Amino acid sequence: MSTRDTTPLLDVRDIALSIGGLHILRGITFDVREGEFFTVIGPNGAGKTSLLNVISRIYRPTGGSVMFDGTPLLEAKRSSLATLGIARTFQNLALFEHMDVMDNVVLGRQRLMKSGVLSGSVWFGRARREETIARQACEPLIDLMGLGDYLARPIRDLPYGIKKRIELARALAVEPRLLLLDEPAAGMNDEETDELAEWILVAKRELGLTIVMIEHDMGLVTRLGDRSLVLDFGTTITIESPRAAISDPRVIAAYLGDDSEEADDPTLTGNIALKIPKRVAKGARR
Ligand SMILES: Nc1ncnc2c1ncn2[C@@H]1O[C@H](COP(=O)(O)OP(=O)(O)OP(=O)(O)O)[C@@H](O)[C@H]1O
Ligand SMILES: [Mg+2]
Repeated sequence: MSTRDTTPLLDVRDIALSIGGLHILRGITFDVREGEFFTVIGPNGAGKTSLLNVISRIYRPTGGSVMFDGTPLLEAKRSSLATLGIARTFQNLALFEHMDVMDNVVLGRQRLMKSGVLSGSVWFGRARREETIARQACEPLIDLMGLGDYLARPIRDLPYGIKKRIELARALAVEPRLLLLDEPAAGMNDEETDELAEWILVAKRELGLTIVMIEHDMGLVTRLGDRSLVLDFGTTITIESPRAAISDPRVIAAYLGDDSEEADDPTLTGNIALKIPKRVAKGARR
């Protein structure tokens, strides 16, 4: 057996994060195997995005370690993540609305390039060659993500579901091994969510990705995810299969709040657990 078969691709140990004296995360430990679809769930304000921010080197944790394929990530520069093979999307749509689809996707490759794309010097020398290569390299990806029909259209004219798919394509443009998704289905209707799920699965299969996805849509989590890390108040409640997680009384209690009468009613919570709308989650903690 090779090391890769036994060593997790991502190994997160005992992460603690405090910001301005507030404990945001405590004792977070989990690993993600190569090829796994790992999900992170929990009520609003549980610390899910903060955890992703630690892994993607936006937040510096107060303790713990993160290993990615044998590399200590907390010692790596944020700018080196793309080269290491890590890409992410953000909770809020982050596209350049005035630019077209190709430019937005090519921008994702910028971190792999030395000269930077779409800069003032873009048409000269190495930068020009690099941009041409980057555009060519993105063409199969545009096809894979079914974006060929939208290529020359400004982003602002496109439906929300397509925009989210472009954002996905832009993350994929760095050719990651590990893809971090922060609520990819946020703001989508059921149809858009189903469609996005298919594209995520296509990307995972065709590009051999390992995925860590934060998501509130429990239908999506149970359909796609292999295991779920459930966070509440910055600590781990459990790590188990998504199906087990949504019927786990500790998880249901976290979503509903311990003092909720509904938490004592298993028939009611059984239903709510599947949907877990954001407003039921502890939104007041925001
Ligand atoms: N930069 C920061 N400064 C101060 N507090 C922060 C910062 N980042 C996160 N927090 C706090 O940490 C807690 C966790 O926030 P985080 O965004 O990680 O939650 P989340 O689980 O992603 O929630 P949601 O489901 O609403 O996206 C919240 O109380 C939040 O206010
Ligand atoms: Mg979040």
